[in-house]
Amino acid sequence: MKLATIIGARPQFIKAATVSRIIKKIPEVNEIIIHTGQHYDRNMSQVFFEQLQISTPDYDLKVGSASHGKQTGMMLERIEDVLLEENPDWVLTYGDTNSTLAGTLAAVKLHIPTAHVEAGLRSFNRKMPEEINRIATDHVSDLLFAPTKNAMRLLDKEGLSEKAVFSGDVMYDSVLFYSELLNNTYKPPILDSIDTYFLATIHRPENTDNPQRLQNIFSAFSEVNLPVILPLHPRTRKLLDGIRYTDNVKIIDPVDYLQMLYLLKFSSKVLTDSGGLQKEAYFMQKPCLTLREQSEWVETLEGNWNFIVAADKNLILEKIGVNKFEPQTSAFGNGKAADYIVEHLLKQQG
Ligand code: UD1
Repeated sequence: MKLATIIGARPQFIKAATVSRIIKKIPEVNEIIIHTGQHYDRNMSQVFFEQLQISTPDYDLKVGSASHGKQTGMMLERIEDVLLEENPDWVLTYGDTNSTLAGTLAAVKLHIPTAHVEAGLRSFNRKMPEEINRIATDHVSDLLFAPTKNAMRLLDKEGLSEKAVFSGDVMYDSVLFYSELLNNTYKPPILDSIDTYFLATIHRPENTDNPQRLQNIFSAFSEVNLPVILPLHPRTRKLLDGIRYTDNVKIIDPVDYLQMLYLLKFSSKVLTDSGGLQKEAYFMQKPCLTLREQSEWVETLEGNWNFIVAADKNLILEKIGVNKFEPQTSAFGNGKAADYIVEHLLKQQG
């Protein structure tokens, strides 16, 4: 079976690495990796390939940054050329980025069967580009791998249950696998001088592109009772001019995956607008505050593990003080989502 994996942004490298590790063990599957080039800085892209031992992409489409229409359009055109050349049996896409949407559209228009990993997630906020990407991807893909039972239920509501299967979450597999490998070589230098801290990330346009929201978040980070370590996405760094904050906020460059897991493991709590980090916090039993208006990962909201605090400074300062948690549920599968996905694809082949 020839499988074309289409990836382009940081969280997709992590998800695809977990599935690729399983694929490599199966001689009858030949995986072609197509990198759209959506993320191109070394520390946003190449370091993940090296550290997670993902094979060098067979195709690097070098699309880079642009407006949504232009970026997606360039991807569509270049992916189509590759798919025509390679003619894979399946195309595999991940998550909800512009690379996911472009890969899916290019494949379905060529009548190539397409499978979507992390299907069925919804924030019900259509202003988010990711929400449009996942709705469109789920509706036109042939096979949907849902990470949770709630995702299955949402797919059912949209009339998509016939092509949906519950696989569990590949990011849970990934945290289980890589946290075993954590050791001091992955300790970021910032931890030489700080040992108790909150870990934060901010990159969503709804926060970065709205100076008032960004200021509220940085004001809250300046006032919380522990230092806030903030590996900063390039999108956010470019928009920090004029934002005021104290030296309680420790800005560092983006870190690689194992450094991030290390930071997470020794953090007290997490403050983030990332979907992936909300879950990783949950998997490592770290309480999280979500700097958004809604979360797709509703399972994490149970038992005080995750609070939606948006960009509300007072709410952030209130919820950071909550310290009573209930036992977690195992909503994200059994840590073998990637095995299930690969087996299921092979079964489809017959
Ligand atoms: C994208 C995804 C988002 C995902 C995130 C992970 C979409 C619509 N969004 O958001 O779902 O959570 O990736 O990080 O696909 N930039 C650089 N260097 C890079 C990459 C980006 O400088 O290597 C800067 C550019 O100025 C660019 C901006 O960041 O314009 C945004 O990058 P883009 O890939 O469009 O979206 P993300 O915000 O990273």
